[in-house]
Amino acid sequence: MMMMMVLGINYMKSVVGVLMLITGRSHGLMFTCDARQNTTCYTALGHPVYLQLINVEQPQLSFTAGTQRIFNIKKNIITRQNLPPNWQFIISNWTLIINPVERKDTGTYRTESHDEYGKVVGINCLHLFIEAPVSSVTLNIACLPSSERRVTCSSSGDSPQYSWTLDGTPLGEGGTDVILKEEATGALTCTVTNNVSSVNKTQDLNPCRRPSTPQSTCPPQTVSGTYNQDTDMNEPDQHHQSCGLLVFITVWLAEIIVLTSLWVGFYYLYTRNNRSQTIVRKCRSHTASGTSDES
Ligand SMILES: *[C@@H]1O[C@H](CO)[C@@H](O)[C@H](O)[C@H]1NC(C)=O
Ligand SMILES: *[C@@H]1O[C@H](CO)[C@@H](O)[C@H](O)[C@H]1NC(C)=O
Repeated sequence: MMMMMVLGINYMKSVVGVLMLITGRSHGLMFTCDARQNTTCYTALGHPVYLQLINVEQPQLSFTAGTQRIFNIKKNIITRQNLPPNWQFIISNWTLIINPVERKDTGTYRTESHDEYGKVVGINCLHLFIEAPVSSVTLNIACLPSSERRVTCSSSGDSPQYSWTLDGTPLGEGGTDVILKEEATGALTCTVTNNVSSVNKTQDLNPCRRPSTPQSTCPPQTVSGTYNQDTDMNEPDQHHQSCGLLVFITVWLAEIIVLTSLWVGFYYLYTRNNRSQTIVRKCRSHTASGTSDES
């Protein structure tokens, strides 16, 4: 029974921790972290974090990182301080401010409360993780030979997680890449999330334009029907090559036919012309002799 209650309280505490993190998110990238209990906090590199320390009426408190003492508080007076330059402790409201958070601030910190005889009466552990926020999300859409599209989402930031929606409907697949069927159109959104930030990018998804091969020699149903993106990548290339060859041979044959008929036509005209010219010449010689005879 006692165990159940403790578990319940711990569960409540973690819910509170998560809520605090979410409120931290909504205020730009300023994080608050409730370090009055055992907790894990993620904070954004280069941004401030506000750590709320335990505020019990104990005569003594020490805050340590591993074996290194960061500060001691004795009867509400800071007795020993070894604060890094980007750290500040506000004793009036028991808030430790780290600004800006640096990678070296990652670590496990311990708050120990002592009674007046120096005996430890409570220990809280804080696990502080630093992540660079997600930024510069880009979408790249590539047409595949099958008219499907491969969309790639990329971003900077630590431990990015990707999720996708098309016109607001989640796509089952995750990861940096999705492959979308030919008929899928609409507003495609890639959302990149890590423990400290979430950024999205939306782009309109339009159909791909088909390669402009002649319909008669390369019917499109053969292109989409003979292979599938998932099965074989080499097939479309072979298909396109044989198509190209067919077109080449057709054009070549057509040229030969046209040239041959031109030659035949020319030859015919030439010979006819020659013959008529000789006839004309013969006539001329005839008339010439005729006139000379007359004169
Ligand atoms: C504690 O005091 C500091 C300095 O006045 C302030 O910036 C911070 O917001 C306060 N924290 C809380 C939790 O009130
Ligand atoms: C994308 O981000 C904006 C704010 O940055 C938010 O209002 C919107 O709801 C987000 N869209 C999706 C699909 O997550």
